[in-house]
Amino acid sequence: MDLFEYQARDLFEKHGVPVLQGIVATTPEEAKAAAEKIGGVTVVKAQVKVGGRGKAGGVKVAKTADEAFEYAQQILGMDIKGHTVKRVMIAQGADIAEEYYFSILLDRSNRTYLAMCSVEGGMDIETLAAERPEALAKVEVNPAEGLNEAKAKEIVEAAGFPADIQDDVAAVLVKLGEVYDKEDATLVEVNPLVKTGDGTILALDGKVSLDDNAEFRQSEHEALVDKSAENPLEAKAKENDLNYVKLDGEVGIIGNGAGLVMSTLDVVAYAGENHGNVKPANFLDIGGGASAEVMAAGLDIILNDEQVKSVFVNVFGGITACDAVANGIIKALEILGDKATKPLVVRLDGNNVEEGRKILNEANHPLVHQAETMDSGADKAAELAHTA
Ligand SMILES: Nc1ncnc2c1ncn2[C@@H]1O[C@H](COP(=O)(O)OP(=O)(O)O)[C@@H](O)[C@H]1O
Ligand SMILES: [Mg+2]
Repeated sequence: MDLFEYQARDLFEKHGVPVLQGIVATTPEEAKAAAEKIGGVTVVKAQVKVGGRGKAGGVKVAKTADEAFEYAQQILGMDIKGHTVKRVMIAQGADIAEEYYFSILLDRSNRTYLAMCSVEGGMDIETLAAERPEALAKVEVNPAEGLNEAKAKEIVEAAGFPADIQDDVAAVLVKLGEVYDKEDATLVEVNPLVKTGDGTILALDGKVSLDDNAEFRQSEHEALVDKSAENPLEAKAKENDLNYVKLDGEVGIIGNGAGLVMSTLDVVAYAGENHGNVKPANFLDIGGGASAEVMAAGLDIILNDEQVKSVFVNVFGGITACDAVANGIIKALEILGDKATKPLVVRLDGNNVEEGRKILNEANHPLVHQAETMDSGADKAAELAHTA
């Protein structure tokens, strides 16, 4: 999960990284009150999860609280690279003398952490890396040791910081390393890290990505999720521990095992070419234990997708036998009752397939169509979606 700048700022503060005051506002009135509270020069900053806000006009210096009101009015609702600004952060204004760059990230291909640092910050770092790679120091950080003091010194030396501020910058890098480590981040980026007129080192911007796989030990991270931006169906699936991704199509898909579901998407898209170009509506892997409850939860989510016209259930019985899956489907339809309104094409194969098919035949549910093969099932589901 990527964080907003104000959330990154809060995490920085929590771990002792020097930051300036920042107050989130959702209306110009709140922005004005925040600017009054902070006092002096403030900066109105669009809170969107995308870089280059400054260049896009989403970062404005306000000399007075009234100016903060005006800028907030301009920035709220603005579109920055496809992201609508719903909040601004009113930040205390900094007296910037120098702008630097620092980041630490998970370097998967080298199975290590990588720190990047430059005394030429503020600008677009991709441009710097492409045009003047020698100005961007890259230093490997051993995950077992973390960003300790010695490593921080090595980084600031490699980046070419003047000797008189090396220790101060290194101390801030150690704190940023703590954010990265303690919060289970995969990226902590500060651009710009600044030196102010009086020589203080501050993090003026923050970009943090948290590792979702660490959720189980980071109970506080749940509160950082931006619920307003989540697709409601995906959010509901997550609550039910289902692997669901909403797509732009008409044929709902349920399968067991990510590989089978991926190939089902392909086969349905291919079949759709013969039926008005209908497409798969989602990815949904109900996993190994396809119990009635899981099947019902999955079907419920798919049937709530208004775009969906038919559903293709494609299950290969392995550890979970086909008869259990068939019973699961029938029970799921019972649980859903009147909520089940769209035709279901079911293809079962593998362990106990005969019993599974028999259960579906005997139940003789009006919405259920059986298919012998994956291809014929995909074709039938596409046809039903097209003619619905
Ligand atoms: N609190 C602040 N005080 C003074 N200037 C700021 C402040 N925050 C940002 N700036 C200036 O605005 C520029 C862009 O802001 P930044 O937070 O880096 O947004 P982005 O990277 O999305 O453009 C910074 O490089 C800095 O020069
Ligand atoms: Mg920035």
